[in-house]
Amino acid sequence: MASRNLLLLPGDGIGPEVIGQVRRVIDWLNQRANTGFECEKDLVGGSAYDAHGQAISDAAMDLAQSADAVILGAVGGPKWDGVAYEVRPEAGLLRLRKELGLFANLRPAICYPALADSSSLKRELIEGLDMMIVRELTGGVYFGEPKEIIDLGNGQKRGIDTQIYETYEIERIVRVAFDLARTRDGRVTSSEKRNVMKSGVLWHEVAVEVHSREYPDVELNHILADALAMQLVRAPKQFDVIVTDNLFGDILSDIAAMLTGSLGMLPSASLGAPDEKTGKRKALYEPVHGSAPDITGKGLANPIACIASFGMALRYSFDLGDEANMLDNAIAAVLARGLRTADLMGDGADPVGTVEMGDAILEEMERLAG
Ligand code: IPM
Ligand code: MG
Repeated sequence: MASRNLLLLPGDGIGPEVIGQVRRVIDWLNQRANTGFECEKDLVGGSAYDAHGQAISDAAMDLAQSADAVILGAVGGPKWDGVAYEVRPEAGLLRLRKELGLFANLRPAICYPALADSSSLKRELIEGLDMMIVRELTGGVYFGEPKEIIDLGNGQKRGIDTQIYETYEIERIVRVAFDLARTRDGRVTSSEKRNVMKSGVLWHEVAVEVHSREYPDVELNHILADALAMQLVRAPKQFDVIVTDNLFGDILSDIAAMLTGSLGMLPSASLGAPDEKTGKRKALYEPVHGSAPDITGKGLANPIACIASFGMALRYSFDLGDEANMLDNAIAAVLARGLRTADLMGDGADPVGTVEMGDAILEEMERLAG
């Protein structure tokens, strides 16, 4: 059996706790489904800074380049608030995204039936919610140059970030959205702010061109990003696939995540282009939530987003759709049983901790494997 190489990057804060539960799922699959995963582990973020003075070492980057998939926990925390901008924890994540060419970030927002009452919106607005946000991840204002603070010499400074998109970057990300839509409900909503941004005008133009040339069977709509933010909290179920740029995608995906009950529920996949020879894509999987310094080390973190991110790896990197479905079903079953970590609490019930949630998911896997 060919081995499947994973690089685990637990990172900071609750990252190691949630990755610990992913590790148990991996071990279970190796034993019970003969999946042959081999894991390496390294540092990223503040923990890498503490060890090497860099947010990710070159050695860890080499491991990431050669892994079949990277599974990341979280980066950042107040401990590193004062470190230089170039080596801040987030720089490790951004380097991974950029150097692995992970331009397509998939952030599904699914409302598990059992969690419909955990959302801040009314049950009827989110019950059955199933949308996918496709966020461009290696361009836009995150990486555009110039990016600097200039001293103007008159007691004033000028901070500059640059939003840049070229045709090919928009083409390849909207193609990802159209391809996904074909496997779902067949509808794409493209979002920008072409009313004030030239990059938005180009985004819109390219989306329209790719659509009419290559995907006439898919429905394409356009919405300005501010209006999309409003629609996401007004009537989120109207959307199937949303495609948008790096910064708007960052903001809108946090809104979408919260609709589902908790930021602790949302997984993500970041994918590169298929390799010309092997067809394989570089890939990194991570929960959308951050490092949650307030609950770090207390055993309270919800491991579901990270476990579900590994589920996306099973699906998108390893073609293990059956195992991915099993994992998703195990998560749904545990929630249906009423287990809740603290982030998901309604009134009354007792929260379970990170390890107990992991235990319950493994029990359900065991039961489903029957
Ligand atoms: C995310 C995060 C990151 C981002 C941070 C940690 C750099 O918010 O993945 O959404 O802004 O992309
Ligand atoms: Mg974010």
